[in-house]
Amino acid sequence: MTANKTLLLLPGDGIGPEVMAQARRVLDWVQSSGRASFQIFEDHAGGAAIDAYGVPVTDATVAKAKEVDAVLFGSVGGPKWDSVPFEIRPEAGLLRLRSELQVFANLRPAKVFDALVESSSLKPELVRGLDIMIVRECIGGIYFGEPRGIETLPDGSQRGINTEVYTTHEIQRVGRVAFELARKRQNRVCSVEKANVMESGLLWRQVMTALQAAEFPDVALSHMYADNCAMQLAKNPRQFDVIVTGNLFGDILSDLAAMLTGSLGLLPSATLGARDANGRLPGFYEPIHGSAPDIAGQAKANPMAQILSLALLLRYSFDMEEDAAAIEAAVERVLAKAGRTPDIAAPGRAVITTAEMGDALIAELAAIK
Ligand code: IPM
Ligand code: MG
Repeated sequence: MTANKTLLLLPGDGIGPEVMAQARRVLDWVQSSGRASFQIFEDHAGGAAIDAYGVPVTDATVAKAKEVDAVLFGSVGGPKWDSVPFEIRPEAGLLRLRSELQVFANLRPAKVFDALVESSSLKPELVRGLDIMIVRECIGGIYFGEPRGIETLPDGSQRGINTEVYTTHEIQRVGRVAFELARKRQNRVCSVEKANVMESGLLWRQVMTALQAAEFPDVALSHMYADNCAMQLAKNPRQFDVIVTGNLFGDILSDLAAMLTGSLGLLPSATLGARDANGRLPGFYEPIHGSAPDIAGQAKANPMAQILSLALLLRYSFDMEEDAAAIEAAVERVLAKAGRTPDIAAPGRAVITTAEMGDALIAELAAIK
């Protein structure tokens, strides 16, 4: 039996708790196999934390998140909290967690499952086999840059300010993650910025070029402006292997890439920090989809992205490759033969609930245990 591992679950808002409940069943499956035992903590985040504690994440929750071996996050936000002050909106809880945990590399795979090739908004021949990894810098750039705020000008009008800022160190550390991932894939990195307009983009391009020459000469590096990258993703997405980019461009391009797969409900993400002197790797795992308040509480949510996020957690934070791969394979088998939640409904396939999707997955897992 592997040593006891600690985990913090933060289901959050909307469909978060519903899909997290299914991920918990998968954790139970792993534990029942005897390969690991988990000590599981659970707390509120986002709107649920505003309701419970008055803030979108408490200091105690942040402290717990730093103490545990890994955090599995659901999703935050919803119309209920539209009128809370900007500083304590639900999303601020997520941003504070990422920042305090220093998880700077957000890995967002966009992979087309064979069984779902028809669900894409693009033609099947453009997306079959698509497998892109977007590495999004996650705790810097315009999301966190100073100065920021809204100020009042002498004439009484106002000015909103945010600052895009990246340092050599911030670019290098996320760049290394991208190059290392590429080595395990097709060995190609496309670095994305707006070096034609922004100095921060120019520095980004220079630092990535120097990093590749110094440390990753075996990996092919190309550069692309962010607007062109959006166009290329819609035109010929399979040209990409690993894309590395800053926080804001990564936010936008990863939604675009996710939509190409036709299955937002299937895409997980991992956000990783730097390994410390004791070998600990800060890891934060969340589905790409949001809290989907329009379908919350209706048993319609697809739990697979949350479950695949758990698989990434097992892989990256706990080194449990076999279990991670088993879960991923079981998800593919469910997609190929079982009913489906409405988001990926297909003609001739039963439409099933969140929990039924969980049942189908657990049945697959039980068969291989
Ligand atoms: C994402 C989300 C978040 C972001 C929001 C909820 C703060 O859009 O994870 O992509 O912008 O990072
Ligand atoms: Mg986003």
